[in-house]
Amino acid sequence: MRILYLTRLMCFDGIIKKKPTILIFDSGVGGLSIYDEVRKILPYAHYLYVFDNEAFPYGEKPQQFIIDRVVAIIDAIWLLHQIDLIIVACNTASTISLPALRKRFPCEIIGVVPAIKPATSLTRNGIVGLLATHATIHHSYTYNLINQFASDCQILQLSMSKLVEIAEAKLQGEMVQQPMLCKLLRPWLKAEQPPDTIILGCTHFPLLSQELKAVLPAGTHLVNSGSAIARRAAWLVTNNMDINDLREGMENVTYRLANTPQSMMLKPVLMRYGLGTLKNLTL
Ligand code: DGL
Repeated sequence: MRILYLTRLMCFDGIIKKKPTILIFDSGVGGLSIYDEVRKILPYAHYLYVFDNEAFPYGEKPQQFIIDRVVAIIDAIWLLHQIDLIIVACNTASTISLPALRKRFPCEIIGVVPAIKPATSLTRNGIVGLLATHATIHHSYTYNLINQFASDCQILQLSMSKLVEIAEAKLQGEMVQQPMLCKLLRPWLKAEQPPDTIILGCTHFPLLSQELKAVLPAGTHLVNSGSAIARRAAWLVTNNMDINDLREGMENVTYRLANTPQSMMLKPVLMRYGLGTLKNLTL
């Protein structure tokens, strides 16, 4: 499948023709878990990674605040770049602001929402855990997904702002404390029948997959939306976009909303992801 996409992205003389500009947005570093999957399938795309470290975290903020904020940020980027595809790599922002974004920006937009349907086909004991932010768990979009796809499963939900902070700290170079993870997951760890499948319903959480696996019962499936989002992005770029210019020489850029020492500590990680140029975005 991957080879097929790559072949279709190349013209006959081997020069990459399609170099779409893909904007990936999150409140913090969580979107990197999505970006990582997307660039595996679309390694030649031009990436803009934007993170709102000024208003982070989004998980406990009012809905209208999140809509206004995300629209304003994408407006600001829209003025600077010609964007072909927007990936809202944040469950919280997607469940809340996708309709407003789709109304405003005339390009393809992909949102990331909890992978409830895939989880229901993986569970063996019919008990599925949903780990997400408070805003995602309490949004009607998530209720509807559960009603539509998981009515025959028991869905246990845990909202986890602390885990979002732990993922941020890990990428800034801090050690993840296992006892803290055990404490946060205690409701499931001490349950007589724990979930055998856990949906990572926040893009920050796949960045902690190894650490989560180390404390969860052996064999627990962790499910996230990353690879499905990447396949959708590749399909859109290949079949649904008219990108004919070569647009050579465009470097990947990371935009932050606030110039903080913590954001400077992300530099080595961003470099590893090929997103080393860090700029400030002013609203
Ligand atoms: N990465 C985000 C998500 O998927 C949000 C975390 C936050 O800002 O609270 O929900």
